[in-house]
Amino acid sequence: MLLSLSFLLLWLVFIAQASNDSSWIDYPPDGTATMTHYTIPDGFIASCGCTGGSTGYPTAALSQSAYGSSTAFGPACGKCFNLTLVDTYTGDPPFFPDVVKHIVVKVTDLCPLSQTGWCDGTPTKKNPGGQYLNFDLAFPSPAIPDDFFPSNESLYGYSDFGVWNITYQTVSCSNWAGWKNAAALGSVADLGDGVCCPANPTGSANDTCPSFSDDNGLPPDTTTSVAPLPLYSHMCLL
Ligand SMILES: *[C@@H]1O[C@H](CO)[C@@H](O)[C@H](O)[C@H]1NC(C)=O
Ligand SMILES: *[C@@H]1O[C@H](CO)[C@@H](O)[C@H](O)[C@H]1NC(C)=O
Ligand SMILES: *[C@@H]1O[C@H](CO)[C@@H](O)[C@H](O)[C@H]1NC(C)=O
Ligand SMILES: *[C@@H]1O[C@H](CO)[C@@H](O)[C@H](O)[C@H]1NC(C)=O
Ligand SMILES: *[C@@H]1O[C@H](CO)[C@@H](O)[C@H](O)[C@H]1NC(C)=O
Repeated sequence: MLLSLSFLLLWLVFIAQASNDSSWIDYPPDGTATMTHYTIPDGFIASCGCTGGSTGYPTAALSQSAYGSSTAFGPACGKCFNLTLVDTYTGDPPFFPDVVKHIVVKVTDLCPLSQTGWCDGTPTKKNPGGQYLNFDLAFPSPAIPDDFFPSNESLYGYSDFGVWNITYQTVSCSNWAGWKNAAALGSVADLGDGVCCPANPTGSANDTCPSFSDDNGLPPDTTTSVAPLPLYSHMCLL
């Protein structure tokens, strides 16, 4: 009896999750976010499958719940954002630079939910910076000056704050530095259905990637929901 009840409960939780795609954040075109940085090799083909030439220009990974897929491509692939550094609170005291730095990036990669705390925002939970979205900038990069991130080494003793509080604006990719280089646009040709990197997605179904994981019945990578595996072992017991 007890077993059946707990089974029923788990089943209901499973149905509730399976029948709703609230795994993804429906974010506004403009807003606030955090920015971290990570390294990818020159020419690297990241999750979206954008052509390796994209790495010659500013690119970023977007946190999974905003990216819209737990693997391969999602609706954020190829989208361009203007990211503006506001301040950073990882230093003590928080650092407010006296210059305003901004950069237009193209999203080419997925920042997994469980890998770093900064990409763990979900529709119902903010990341440790109090934001839902995190942009993980590919940096250092040949496309971005090494002094892009403001610093004050004499005051803090280091120059890399790691995490920035930013604002973002969705922009046309015609503002992206790689726009005029055909070799930097689109997806790699020989990977077929596994890739999706529109040159300038607008959000319309005809020019924007679907969610690979939704289309293939794959669950979001999540550390907070009930994993389906124990459910199946319950089914075996019954
Ligand atoms: C989807 O599921 C979440 C919890 O997983 C819940 O908070 C939300 O209300 C659900 N939305 C719909 C439309 O059922
Ligand atoms: C990006 O934002 C900055 C302000 O932070 C602004 O000066 C610049 O014009 C914006 N660029 C685009 C392409 O929207
Ligand atoms: C660094 O901090 C010191 C002390 O607050 C300040 O006098 C100086 O102007 C700062 N330099 C920069 C580049 O922000
Ligand atoms: C982050 O920036 C916003 C403005 O975009 C500001 O209101 C907020 O106080 C900042 N948060 C922190 C933790 O610095
Ligand atoms: C997508 O559809 C919109 C109208 O809904 C149209 O304006 C646009 O040109 C189409 N884009 C492509 C790439 O076909």
